[in-house]
Amino acid sequence: MSNQISTLRQEFTARLDAVTSVTELEEIRVEYLGKKGSVTGLLKSMKDLSAEEKKTFGQEVNVLKNEVTDAIAKKTEALRQEELEREIQAMPEFDVSAPPVLDRGSFHPITLVQRECEEIFKSMGFVVEDYSEIVTDYECFEALNIPKHHPARDMQDTYYLTNGQLLKSHTSAAQNAIYKKYSKALFEEGKPIRAIFPGRCFRNEATDACHENTFFQMEGVMVDKNISISNLIFFMKNMLSEVFKRDVKVRLRPGFFPFVEPGFELDISCAICGGDGCPSCKNSGWLELCPCGMIHPEVLKAGGIDPEEYTGFAFGLGLTRLAMMKYGIKDIRDLNSGSLKCMSQFTEDK
Ligand code: PHE
Repeated sequence: MSNQISTLRQEFTARLDAVTSVTELEEIRVEYLGKKGSVTGLLKSMKDLSAEEKKTFGQEVNVLKNEVTDAIAKKTEALRQEELEREIQAMPEFDVSAPPVLDRGSFHPITLVQRECEEIFKSMGFVVEDYSEIVTDYECFEALNIPKHHPARDMQDTYYLTNGQLLKSHTSAAQNAIYKKYSKALFEEGKPIRAIFPGRCFRNEATDACHENTFFQMEGVMVDKNISISNLIFFMKNMLSEVFKRDVKVRLRPGFFPFVEPGFELDISCAICGGDGCPSCKNSGWLELCPCGMIHPEVLKAGGIDPEEYTGFAFGLGLTRLAMMKYGIKDIRDLNSGSLKCMSQFTEDK
């Protein structure tokens, strides 16, 4: 029996060493840890053993199981990191040390992208709302169907003030206030709520070329009678085509956020290869751009809107990511560097 375990361990280690992609790794995970996997098989085979044997063998198999789980987790992380580096390398060149274009002040690239987006949304009847950076736990989580101790909070650990308030971890924190502010007056006139709210967000993140503890998002919501996923797709496609100044194709993949149901990750066709596949899009032809979904009934209810009568969609556009894509900025940290020499390269007369 112990022999079986050590053979499996050796075989697993060799297989793991040879893995080069996350997809292959997932296959291996299923082969070993899946319902019909070999480690699971070992556990199942225990039913014919004596109580004493079960104890020792069971312990050994569990050690193996934990080893396999840990090794797969580590390898996943390493492969993701490699993919990230490849993605960064494939981005267009931008010179951190280039001389300033102007000798006067200039707009920050995120301001430029934000203003451009605001113009597009305003032309579609959206109001632009500003919202505070310090919010309550209720606004940031509870009102968004994320109760205390919900695991979704782990992804959005942020900075807490001594008075219990926090720095908002996403622009969704303004949703509740927007619904309360607009629903009554607009619905009485038979008009939809259409609002965007750009803002600075904070997360307790270790920083690297792709992660920052301070970044910008732009949230958008539309609520009315009979709003469906078709409206969401139509709207996102038109809006993004305007932003990128080309006809973008969009596709939705399932994504989980407690405040939308169903929730999606929206991808756009890759501009560099036109969808054929290139290093920028990891050969998939698609770039992940913006999470979105149909607003959860509980979230509408918390905002004073009757979910039986009204539905809506919400999306969270990453302005920082958009600016990086648009200007080919490879390191997110440059954006907060305060280096005029570097940032003024993007100045457009606006
Ligand atoms: N607030 C989410 C985040 O920052 C993004 C999101 C917005 C998802 C709107 C769905 C709808 O992770």
